[in-house]
Amino acid sequence: MPKFYITTPVYYVNDVPHIGHTYTTVAADVLARWRRLMKDEVFFLTGTDEHGAKIENKAAEMKLAPQQYSDEIAAKFQKAWQELNVSNDNFLRTTNPAHIRAVGKALQQMHDRGDIYLGKYQGLYCRGCEQYKSERDLVDGLCPDHKVAPEKMSEECYNFKLSKYQERLLALIKKDQIKILPVERKNEIVSFYEKEGLEDVSFSRKNIKWGVPIPWDKSHTTYVWADAFLNYLTGLGWDGKAKKSKIENLKSKMFMWPPTVQLMSKDILRVHTTIWPAMLLALGLPLPKTIFVHGYFKINGQKMSKSLGNVIAPGDLVKKYGTDASRFLVMSAAVFGHDGDISWEKFDDKYNADLANGLGNLVARVSNLIEKNNLELKIKLEVNGHLPLHKKYAALMAEFKFDEALKLLWQRLRQADETLSEKKPWAIKDAKAVEKILQPIAQDILNVAGLLKPFMPAIAEKIIAQFSAGQIKKGENLFPRI
Ligand code: MSP
Repeated sequence: MPKFYITTPVYYVNDVPHIGHTYTTVAADVLARWRRLMKDEVFFLTGTDEHGAKIENKAAEMKLAPQQYSDEIAAKFQKAWQELNVSNDNFLRTTNPAHIRAVGKALQQMHDRGDIYLGKYQGLYCRGCEQYKSERDLVDGLCPDHKVAPEKMSEECYNFKLSKYQERLLALIKKDQIKILPVERKNEIVSFYEKEGLEDVSFSRKNIKWGVPIPWDKSHTTYVWADAFLNYLTGLGWDGKAKKSKIENLKSKMFMWPPTVQLMSKDILRVHTTIWPAMLLALGLPLPKTIFVHGYFKINGQKMSKSLGNVIAPGDLVKKYGTDASRFLVMSAAVFGHDGDISWEKFDDKYNADLANGLGNLVARVSNLIEKNNLELKIKLEVNGHLPLHKKYAALMAEFKFDEALKLLWQRLRQADETLSEKKPWAIKDAKAVEKILQPIAQDILNVAGLLKPFMPAIAEKIIAQFSAGQIKKGENLFPRI
Protein backbone atom coordinates (compact mmCIF):
# COMPACT_ATOMS: atom_id res chain seq x y z
CA MET A 1 0.00 0.00 0.00
CA PRO A 2 1.48 3.40 -0.92
CA LYS A 3 2.12 5.60 2.10
CA PHE A 4 0.77 9.11 2.30
CA TYR A 5 1.85 11.26 5.22
CA ILE A 6 0.37 14.78 5.22
CA THR A 7 0.94 17.61 7.69
CA THR A 8 -0.35 21.09 8.41
CA PRO A 9 1.69 23.60 10.42
CA VAL A 10 1.24 23.44 14.17
CA TYR A 11 -0.72 26.63 14.76
CA TYR A 12 0.30 29.19 17.37
CA VAL A 13 -2.03 29.31 20.33
CA ASN A 14 -1.66 33.07 20.70
CA ASP A 15 -4.76 33.31 18.54
CA VAL A 16 -8.01 31.39 18.25
CA PRO A 17 -8.61 29.42 15.04
CA HIS A 18 -9.65 31.51 12.04
CA ILE A 19 -10.43 30.89 8.40
CA GLY A 20 -6.74 30.97 7.40
CA HIS A 21 -5.96 27.98 9.62
CA THR A 22 -9.21 26.43 8.43
CA TYR A 23 -8.11 26.66 4.81
CA THR A 24 -4.90 24.72 5.36
CA THR A 25 -6.50 22.14 7.61
CA VAL A 26 -9.54 21.45 5.42
CA ALA A 27 -7.32 21.24 2.33
CA ALA A 28 -5.13 18.70 4.12
CA ASP A 29 -8.25 16.80 5.10
CA VAL A 30 -9.53 16.77 1.52
CA LEU A 31 -6.23 15.27 0.39
CA ALA A 32 -6.11 12.78 3.25
CA ARG A 33 -9.65 11.62 2.49
CA TRP A 34 -8.92 11.41 -1.23
CA ARG A 35 -5.80 9.32 -0.70
CA ARG A 36 -7.70 7.02 1.68
CA LEU A 37 -10.33 6.52 -1.03
CA MET A 38 -7.46 5.63 -3.37
CA LYS A 39 -6.41 3.02 -0.79
CA ASP A 40 -3.17 4.63 0.33
CA GLU A 41 -2.06 4.16 3.89
CA VAL A 42 -2.65 7.68 5.19
CA PHE A 43 -1.44 9.53 8.25
CA PHE A 44 -2.70 13.07 8.70
CA LEU A 45 -1.17 15.27 11.38
CA THR A 46 -2.12 18.68 12.69
CA GLY A 47 -1.64 20.37 16.06
CA THR A 48 -0.61 23.43 18.02
CA ASP A 49 2.63 25.34 18.63
CA GLU A 50 2.58 26.37 22.27
CA HIS A 51 6.05 27.51 23.39
CA GLY A 52 8.05 30.69 23.01
CA ALA A 53 8.00 34.40 23.73
CA LYS A 54 4.79 35.13 21.88
CA ILE A 55 2.75 32.61 23.87
CA GLU A 56 4.51 33.48 27.13
CA ASN A 57 3.52 37.13 26.69
CA LYS A 58 -0.01 36.38 25.61
CA ALA A 59 -0.61 34.13 28.62
CA ALA A 60 0.75 36.83 30.93
CA GLU A 61 -1.59 39.34 29.30
CA MET A 62 -4.48 36.98 29.98
CA LYS A 63 -3.20 36.50 33.55
CA LEU A 64 -2.95 32.75 33.06
CA ALA A 65 -0.13 30.27 33.44
CA PRO A 66 1.14 29.52 29.91
CA GLN A 67 0.15 25.87 30.18
CA GLN A 68 -3.38 26.66 31.29
CA TYR A 69 -3.71 29.30 28.59
CA SER A 70 -2.40 26.86 25.96
CA ASP A 71 -4.82 24.16 27.13
CA GLU A 72 -7.74 26.49 26.53
CA ILE A 73 -6.71 27.53 23.05
CA ALA A 74 -5.57 24.08 21.95
CA ALA A 75 -9.04 22.82 22.90
CA LYS A 76 -10.56 25.45 20.61
CA PHE A 77 -8.49 24.23 17.69
CA GLN A 78 -9.51 20.67 18.38
CA LYS A 79 -13.15 21.64 18.61
CA ALA A 80 -12.99 23.62 15.37
CA TRP A 81 -11.54 20.65 13.48
CA GLN A 82 -14.13 18.32 14.95
CA GLU A 83 -16.93 20.64 13.88
CA LEU A 84 -15.49 20.64 10.38
CA ASN A 85 -15.26 16.84 10.32
CA VAL A 86 -11.49 16.92 9.91
CA SER A 87 -10.10 13.39 9.97
CA ASN A 88 -6.64 13.97 11.45
CA ASP A 89 -4.97 10.86 12.86
CA ASN A 90 -3.20 12.78 15.61
CA PHE A 91 -3.29 16.24 17.13
CA LEU A 92 0.19 17.12 18.33
CA ARG A 93 0.65 19.74 21.02
CA THR A 94 4.23 20.89 21.47
CA THR A 95 3.70 20.88 25.25
CA ASN A 96 3.06 17.15 25.15
CA PRO A 97 5.68 15.52 27.48
CA ALA A 98 6.74 12.91 24.90
CA HIS A 99 7.32 15.68 22.35
CA ILE A 100 9.35 17.66 24.90
CA ARG A 101 11.53 14.63 25.69
CA ALA A 102 12.15 13.98 22.00
CA VAL A 103 13.10 17.62 21.37
CA GLY A 104 15.68 17.44 24.17
CA LYS A 105 17.17 14.26 22.75
CA ALA A 106 17.27 15.58 19.21
CA LEU A 107 19.06 18.75 20.27
CA GLN A 108 21.52 16.79 22.37
CA GLN A 109 22.42 14.71 19.34
CA MET A 110 22.88 17.70 17.08
CA HIS A 111 25.11 19.16 19.81
CA ASP A 112 27.09 15.92 20.17
CA ARG A 113 27.68 15.83 16.43
CA GLY A 114 29.02 19.37 16.44
CA ASP A 115 26.08 20.99 14.68
CA ILE A 116 25.23 23.16 17.67
CA TYR A 117 27.87 25.39 19.29
CA LEU A 118 27.99 28.14 21.89
CA GLY A 119 27.95 31.59 20.37
CA LYS A 120 26.25 34.89 20.56
CA TYR A 121 23.34 36.44 18.78
CA GLN A 122 23.46 40.12 18.14
CA GLY A 123 20.72 41.43 15.95
CA LEU A 124 17.02 41.79 15.46
CA TYR A 125 14.15 39.56 16.48
CA CYS A 126 10.48 39.76 15.51
CA ARG A 127 8.34 38.21 18.18
CA GLY A 128 5.33 38.03 15.88
CA CYS A 129 7.29 35.79 13.50
CA GLU A 130 9.41 34.31 16.29
CA GLN A 131 12.25 34.84 13.84
CA TYR A 132 15.66 36.49 13.71
CA LYS A 133 15.61 39.25 11.13
CA SER A 134 18.20 40.95 9.00
CA GLU A 135 17.89 44.57 7.84
CA ARG A 136 17.13 43.19 4.38
CA ASP A 137 13.95 41.55 5.67
CA LEU A 138 12.48 44.84 6.90
CA VAL A 139 10.38 47.42 5.11
CA ASP A 140 10.90 50.95 6.50
CA GLY A 141 12.46 49.36 9.55
CA LEU A 142 9.36 47.25 10.23
CA CYS A 143 8.61 43.57 9.91
CA PRO A 144 6.43 43.48 6.78
CA ASP A 145 4.16 40.79 8.24
CA HIS A 146 3.64 42.26 11.69
CA LYS A 147 4.22 45.98 11.03
CA VAL A 148 6.31 46.37 14.17
CA ALA A 149 9.97 47.22 14.62
CA PRO A 150 11.83 44.07 15.66
CA GLU A 151 13.55 44.12 19.05
CA LYS A 152 17.32 44.42 19.32
CA MET A 153 18.76 41.32 20.88
CA SER A 154 22.18 40.55 22.18
CA GLU A 155 22.63 37.37 24.12
CA GLU A 156 24.72 34.29 24.52
CA CYS A 157 23.10 31.40 22.73
CA TYR A 158 23.64 28.04 21.11
CA ASN A 159 23.82 28.32 17.36
CA PHE A 160 22.84 25.75 14.79
CA LYS A 161 25.29 25.38 11.90
CA LEU A 162 22.75 26.14 9.24
CA SER A 163 25.36 27.62 6.88
CA LYS A 164 27.02 24.23 6.59
CA TYR A 165 23.97 22.90 4.68
CA GLN A 166 23.72 25.69 2.10
CA GLU A 167 25.13 23.80 -0.88
CA ARG A 168 23.50 20.46 -0.15
CA LEU A 169 20.07 21.96 0.37
CA LEU A 170 20.26 24.23 -2.66
CA ALA A 171 21.15 21.23 -4.83
CA LEU A 172 18.36 19.13 -3.35
CA ILE A 173 15.79 21.87 -3.88
CA LYS A 174 16.93 22.52 -7.43
CA LYS A 175 16.63 18.81 -8.23
CA ASP A 176 13.16 18.67 -6.65
CA GLN A 177 14.34 16.22 -4.03
CA ILE A 178 12.27 18.50 -1.87
CA LYS A 179 9.66 19.58 -4.36
CA ILE A 180 8.42 23.09 -3.66
CA LEU A 181 5.08 23.89 -5.29
CA PRO A 182 3.78 25.99 -7.01
CA VAL A 183 6.97 26.43 -9.03
CA GLU A 184 7.06 30.23 -8.46
CA ARG A 185 7.65 29.40 -4.81
CA LYS A 186 10.52 27.12 -5.67
CA ASN A 187 12.09 29.85 -7.79
CA GLU A 188 11.72 32.30 -4.94
CA ILE A 189 13.52 29.95 -2.54
CA VAL A 190 16.27 29.09 -5.03
CA SER A 191 16.86 32.78 -5.53
CA PHE A 192 16.99 33.31 -1.76
CA TYR A 193 19.65 30.60 -1.49
CA GLU A 194 21.64 32.06 -4.36
CA LYS A 195 21.40 35.73 -3.40
CA GLU A 196 21.34 35.68 0.40
CA GLY A 197 22.28 32.20 1.50
CA LEU A 198 22.13 30.53 4.87
CA GLU A 199 23.65 31.89 8.04
CA ASP A 200 23.90 30.03 11.31
CA VAL A 201 20.85 30.51 13.47
CA SER A 202 20.40 30.73 17.22
CA PHE A 203 18.69 27.64 18.55
CA SER A 204 18.38 28.75 22.17
CA ARG A 205 17.04 31.65 24.21
CA LYS A 206 18.27 32.71 27.62
CA ASN A 207 15.46 35.03 28.60
CA ILE A 208 12.53 32.90 27.60
CA LYS A 209 11.34 30.55 30.31
CA TRP A 210 8.46 29.03 28.38
CA GLY A 211 10.22 26.48 26.24
CA VAL A 212 12.01 23.13 26.18
CA PRO A 213 15.16 23.36 28.34
CA ILE A 214 18.45 22.83 26.48
CA PRO A 215 19.55 19.47 27.94
CA TRP A 216 23.23 20.34 28.50
CA ASP A 217 22.59 23.89 29.74
CA LYS A 218 19.31 24.39 31.53
CA SER A 219 19.74 28.15 31.65
CA HIS A 220 18.59 28.18 28.01
CA THR A 221 15.37 27.08 26.35
CA THR A 222 15.04 25.78 22.82
CA TYR A 223 14.26 28.22 20.01
CA VAL A 224 10.53 27.79 19.38
CA TRP A 225 10.90 26.93 15.67
CA ALA A 226 13.43 24.17 16.38
CA ASP A 227 10.94 22.78 18.88
CA ALA A 228 7.96 23.22 16.56
CA PHE A 229 9.49 21.59 13.47
CA LEU A 230 10.09 18.39 15.38
CA ASN A 231 6.31 18.00 15.80
CA TYR A 232 6.25 16.47 12.32
CA LEU A 233 8.35 13.63 13.74
CA THR A 234 6.95 13.35 17.24
CA GLY A 235 3.43 13.38 15.81
CA LEU A 236 4.25 9.88 14.50
CA GLY A 237 5.53 8.82 17.91
CA TRP A 238 9.22 9.52 17.19
CA ASP A 239 11.28 9.29 20.36
CA GLY A 240 14.02 11.75 19.39
CA LYS A 241 16.70 9.34 18.29
CA ALA A 242 18.51 10.27 15.13
CA LYS A 243 18.73 7.83 12.27
CA LYS A 244 17.42 4.46 13.35
CA SER A 245 14.60 5.57 15.53
CA LYS A 246 12.58 2.83 17.13
CA ILE A 247 10.91 1.84 13.90
CA GLU A 248 10.44 -1.56 15.46
CA ASN A 249 8.46 0.07 18.26
CA LEU A 250 4.94 -0.89 17.30
CA LYS A 251 3.37 2.12 18.90
CA SER A 252 5.39 4.39 16.65
CA LYS A 253 4.22 5.26 13.16
CA MET A 254 7.74 6.23 12.10
CA PHE A 255 7.44 3.88 9.15
CA MET A 256 5.27 6.63 7.64
CA TRP A 257 8.28 8.97 7.56
CA PRO A 258 8.99 11.17 5.54
CA PRO A 259 6.01 13.45 4.83
CA THR A 260 4.54 13.05 1.38
CA VAL A 261 3.07 16.55 1.50
CA GLN A 262 3.55 19.41 3.92
CA LEU A 263 0.88 22.07 3.45
CA MET A 264 1.28 25.67 4.55
CA SER A 265 1.06 29.23 3.31
CA LYS A 266 3.80 31.52 2.08
CA ASP A 267 4.45 33.14 5.47
CA ILE A 268 6.39 30.15 6.74
CA LEU A 269 7.82 28.73 3.53
CA ARG A 270 11.33 30.06 3.97
CA VAL A 271 11.90 28.49 7.39
CA HIS A 272 10.40 25.25 6.10
CA THR A 273 12.88 25.10 3.23
CA THR A 274 15.97 26.15 5.19
CA ILE A 275 16.09 25.40 8.93
CA TRP A 276 13.71 22.46 8.78
CA PRO A 277 15.41 20.31 6.12
CA ALA A 278 18.82 21.25 7.57
CA MET A 279 17.71 19.82 10.92
CA LEU A 280 16.71 16.62 9.16
CA LEU A 281 20.09 16.40 7.43
CA ALA A 282 21.75 16.99 10.80
CA LEU A 283 19.69 14.16 12.28
CA GLY A 284 20.29 11.89 9.30
CA LEU A 285 16.59 11.59 8.51
CA PRO A 286 14.90 11.58 5.08
CA LEU A 287 13.49 14.87 3.81
CA PRO A 288 9.85 15.72 3.01
CA LYS A 289 8.91 14.96 -0.58
CA THR A 290 6.70 17.94 -1.34
CA ILE A 291 6.01 21.29 0.25
CA PHE A 292 2.87 22.87 -1.12
CA VAL A 293 2.25 26.55 -0.49
CA HIS A 294 -1.28 27.85 -0.79
CA GLY A 295 -2.28 31.49 -0.93
CA TYR A 296 -3.34 33.93 1.72
CA PHE A 297 -6.95 34.91 2.35
CA LYS A 298 -7.82 38.54 2.60
CA ILE A 299 -11.24 39.70 3.69
CA ASN A 300 -12.83 42.33 1.46
CA GLY A 301 -9.36 43.22 0.28
CA GLN A 302 -8.03 43.72 3.77
CA LYS A 303 -5.73 41.76 6.00
CA MET A 304 -7.67 39.76 8.55
CA SER A 305 -7.13 41.32 11.95
CA LYS A 306 -8.70 41.60 15.34
CA SER A 307 -8.43 45.36 15.31
CA LEU A 308 -10.39 45.53 12.06
CA GLY A 309 -12.87 43.08 13.56
CA ASN A 310 -13.12 41.20 10.27
CA VAL A 311 -11.84 37.83 11.41
CA ILE A 312 -13.92 34.88 10.22
CA ALA A 313 -13.94 32.00 12.70
CA PRO A 314 -14.56 28.41 11.64
CA GLY A 315 -17.31 28.05 14.26
CA ASP A 316 -19.26 30.95 12.70
CA LEU A 317 -18.98 29.38 9.25
CA VAL A 318 -20.30 26.07 10.52
CA LYS A 319 -23.14 27.76 12.39
CA LYS A 320 -24.26 29.59 9.28
CA TYR A 321 -23.71 27.03 6.52
CA GLY A 322 -23.20 23.68 8.23
CA THR A 323 -20.11 21.50 8.17
CA ASP A 324 -19.97 20.30 4.59
CA ALA A 325 -21.04 23.56 2.99
CA SER A 326 -18.35 25.38 5.00
CA ARG A 327 -15.74 22.96 3.71
CA PHE A 328 -16.98 23.50 0.16
CA LEU A 329 -17.00 27.29 0.49
CA VAL A 330 -13.48 27.44 1.89
CA MET A 331 -12.07 25.09 -0.73
CA SER A 332 -13.68 26.92 -3.63
CA ALA A 333 -12.87 30.42 -2.39
CA ALA A 334 -9.57 30.75 -4.27
CA VAL A 335 -7.36 29.07 -6.82
CA PHE A 336 -5.30 26.75 -4.66
CA GLY A 337 -1.78 28.16 -4.57
CA HIS A 338 -2.93 31.75 -5.17
CA ASP A 339 -4.17 34.45 -2.83
CA GLY A 340 -7.89 34.86 -2.47
CA ASP A 341 -10.29 37.57 -1.40
CA ILE A 342 -13.21 36.35 0.65
CA SER A 343 -16.24 37.84 2.39
CA TRP A 344 -19.50 36.73 3.96
CA GLU A 345 -21.36 38.14 0.94
CA LYS A 346 -19.30 36.01 -1.44
CA PHE A 347 -19.89 32.94 0.69
CA ASP A 348 -23.66 33.60 0.74
CA ASP A 349 -23.76 34.00 -3.03
CA LYS A 350 -21.70 30.91 -3.66
CA TYR A 351 -23.79 28.91 -1.18
CA ASN A 352 -27.04 29.92 -2.83
CA ALA A 353 -25.80 29.49 -6.38
CA ASP A 354 -23.82 26.26 -6.15
CA LEU A 355 -25.35 24.47 -3.20
CA ALA A 356 -28.96 25.59 -2.65
CA ASN A 357 -29.85 26.23 -6.31
CA GLY A 358 -27.17 23.95 -7.73
CA LEU A 359 -26.51 20.60 -6.17
CA GLY A 360 -29.39 20.71 -3.65
CA ASN A 361 -32.03 21.69 -6.16
CA LEU A 362 -30.89 19.17 -8.77
CA VAL A 363 -30.93 16.32 -6.27
CA ALA A 364 -34.41 17.35 -5.08
CA ARG A 365 -35.87 17.70 -8.60
CA VAL A 366 -34.47 14.46 -9.91
CA SER A 367 -35.33 12.36 -6.87
CA ASN A 368 -38.82 13.86 -6.81
CA LEU A 369 -39.41 12.97 -10.48
CA ILE A 370 -38.11 9.46 -9.95
CA GLU A 371 -40.39 8.96 -6.96
CA LYS A 372 -43.45 10.38 -8.71
CA ASN A 373 -42.97 8.13 -11.73
CA ASN A 374 -42.29 5.14 -9.53
CA LEU A 375 -39.11 4.38 -11.43
CA GLU A 376 -36.68 1.70 -10.44
CA LEU A 377 -33.37 2.74 -11.94
CA LYS A 378 -30.46 0.41 -12.36
CA ILE A 379 -27.61 2.66 -11.37
CA LYS A 380 -24.71 2.11 -9.08
CA LEU A 381 -21.82 4.10 -7.74
CA GLU A 382 -18.71 3.63 -9.82
CA VAL A 383 -15.73 4.21 -7.58
CA ASN A 384 -12.19 4.40 -8.78
CA GLY A 385 -13.62 3.88 -12.23
CA HIS A 386 -12.08 4.62 -15.54
CA LEU A 387 -14.72 7.15 -16.49
CA PRO A 388 -13.28 10.30 -18.05
CA LEU A 389 -14.76 12.23 -15.10
CA HIS A 390 -12.81 10.15 -12.59
CA LYS A 391 -9.60 10.46 -14.56
CA LYS A 392 -9.87 14.21 -14.94
CA TYR A 393 -10.72 14.62 -11.29
CA ALA A 394 -7.83 12.42 -10.15
CA ALA A 395 -5.40 14.39 -12.31
CA LEU A 396 -6.56 17.68 -10.81
CA MET A 397 -6.33 16.31 -7.27
CA ALA A 398 -2.79 15.07 -7.96
CA GLU A 399 -1.87 18.63 -8.93
CA PHE A 400 -3.51 20.18 -5.84
CA LYS A 401 -6.11 21.87 -8.07
CA PHE A 402 -8.94 21.45 -5.59
CA ASP A 403 -11.03 24.38 -6.76
CA GLU A 404 -10.81 23.08 -10.34
CA ALA A 405 -11.80 19.60 -9.26
CA LEU A 406 -14.93 21.12 -7.75
CA LYS A 407 -15.57 23.12 -10.91
CA LEU A 408 -15.33 19.93 -12.93
CA LEU A 409 -18.02 18.31 -10.80
CA TRP A 410 -20.25 21.38 -11.03
CA GLN A 411 -19.91 21.41 -14.82
CA ARG A 412 -21.38 17.94 -14.78
CA LEU A 413 -24.23 19.06 -12.51
CA ARG A 414 -24.98 22.00 -14.76
CA GLN A 415 -25.12 19.73 -17.79
CA ALA A 416 -27.67 17.61 -15.97
CA ASP A 417 -29.68 20.72 -15.15
CA GLU A 418 -29.63 21.76 -18.80
CA THR A 419 -30.74 18.35 -19.97
CA LEU A 420 -33.67 18.52 -17.55
CA SER A 421 -34.74 21.97 -18.76
CA GLU A 422 -34.46 20.84 -22.36
CA LYS A 423 -36.28 17.54 -22.10
CA LYS A 424 -38.85 18.57 -19.50
CA PRO A 425 -39.50 15.08 -18.09
CA TRP A 426 -42.17 16.52 -15.77
CA ALA A 427 -44.37 17.16 -18.81
CA ILE A 428 -44.04 13.62 -20.12
CA LYS A 429 -46.69 11.03 -19.28
CA ASP A 430 -44.94 7.87 -20.46
CA ALA A 431 -42.87 6.49 -17.53
CA LYS A 432 -40.50 4.63 -19.86
CA ALA A 433 -39.64 7.86 -21.67
CA VAL A 434 -39.12 9.64 -18.36
CA GLU A 435 -36.85 6.85 -17.21
CA LYS A 436 -34.72 7.20 -20.33
CA ILE A 437 -34.08 10.83 -19.48
CA LEU A 438 -33.56 10.41 -15.77
CA GLN A 439 -31.43 7.29 -15.74
CA PRO A 440 -28.19 8.94 -17.02
CA ILE A 441 -28.82 12.04 -14.90
CA ALA A 442 -29.24 9.99 -11.74
CA GLN A 443 -26.08 8.07 -12.64
CA ASP A 444 -24.22 11.37 -13.03
CA ILE A 445 -25.46 12.59 -9.67
CA LEU A 446 -24.24 9.38 -8.10
CA ASN A 447 -20.85 9.66 -9.78
CA VAL A 448 -20.46 13.28 -8.71
CA ALA A 449 -21.42 12.36 -5.14
CA GLY A 450 -18.73 9.66 -5.12
CA LEU A 451 -16.11 12.24 -6.02
CA LEU A 452 -17.50 14.77 -3.58
CA LYS A 453 -16.60 12.54 -0.65
CA PRO A 454 -13.26 14.19 0.15
CA PHE A 455 -14.86 17.66 0.16
CA MET A 456 -18.32 17.02 1.62
CA PRO A 457 -18.13 13.64 3.34
CA ALA A 458 -21.56 13.59 5.00
CA ILE A 459 -23.55 15.16 2.14
CA ALA A 460 -21.85 12.84 -0.35
CA GLU A 461 -22.84 9.80 1.71
CA LYS A 462 -26.41 11.07 1.98
CA ILE A 463 -26.75 11.47 -1.76
CA ILE A 464 -25.11 8.10 -2.37
CA ALA A 465 -27.51 6.40 0.05
CA GLN A 466 -30.47 8.17 -1.54
CA PHE A 467 -29.52 7.31 -5.12
CA SER A 468 -28.32 3.78 -4.42
CA ALA A 469 -31.61 2.70 -2.91
CA GLY A 470 -33.82 0.52 -5.16
CA GLN A 471 -36.59 3.06 -4.69
CA ILE A 472 -35.23 6.59 -4.90
CA LYS A 473 -37.26 9.02 -2.81
CA LYS A 474 -37.25 12.75 -2.48
CA GLY A 475 -35.20 13.33 0.67
CA GLU A 476 -34.75 16.27 2.98
CA ASN A 477 -33.60 19.61 1.63
CA LEU A 478 -29.80 19.35 1.59
CA PHE A 479 -29.06 23.09 1.53
CA PRO A 480 -31.76 25.46 2.82
CA ARG A 481 -31.41 28.84 1.11
CA ILE A 482 -29.64 31.58 3.03
N1 MSP B 1 3.49 28.02 14.59
C1 MSP B 1 3.92 28.37 13.30
C2 MSP B 1 4.09 27.17 12.41
C3 MSP B 1 5.05 26.13 12.92
S1 MSP B 1 5.09 24.73 11.89
C4 MSP B 1 6.42 23.87 12.42
C5 MSP B 1 2.90 29.31 12.65
N2 MSP B 1 1.65 29.28 13.14
S2 MSP B 1 0.42 30.16 12.60
O1 MSP B 1 -0.65 29.93 13.53
O2 MSP B 1 0.82 31.50 12.39
O3 MSP B 1 -0.02 29.49 11.25
C6 MSP B 1 0.46 29.95 10.01
C7 MSP B 1 -0.28 29.18 8.93
O4 MSP B 1 -1.70 29.33 9.10
C8 MSP B 1 -0.02 29.61 7.51
O5 MSP B 1 1.16 29.07 6.96
C9 MSP B 1 -1.26 29.07 6.84
O6 MSP B 1 -1.17 27.67 6.74
C10 MSP B 1 -2.33 29.43 7.84
N3 MSP B 1 -2.81 30.79 7.67
C11 MSP B 1 -2.79 31.78 8.60
N4 MSP B 1 -3.39 32.89 8.10
C12 MSP B 1 -3.78 32.65 6.84
C13 MSP B 1 -4.50 33.40 5.86
N5 MSP B 1 -4.91 34.65 6.08
N6 MSP B 1 -4.78 32.80 4.69
C14 MSP B 1 -4.43 31.49 4.43
N7 MSP B 1 -3.75 30.78 5.32
C15 MSP B 1 -3.34 31.34 6.50
O7 MSP B 1 3.25 29.99 11.71
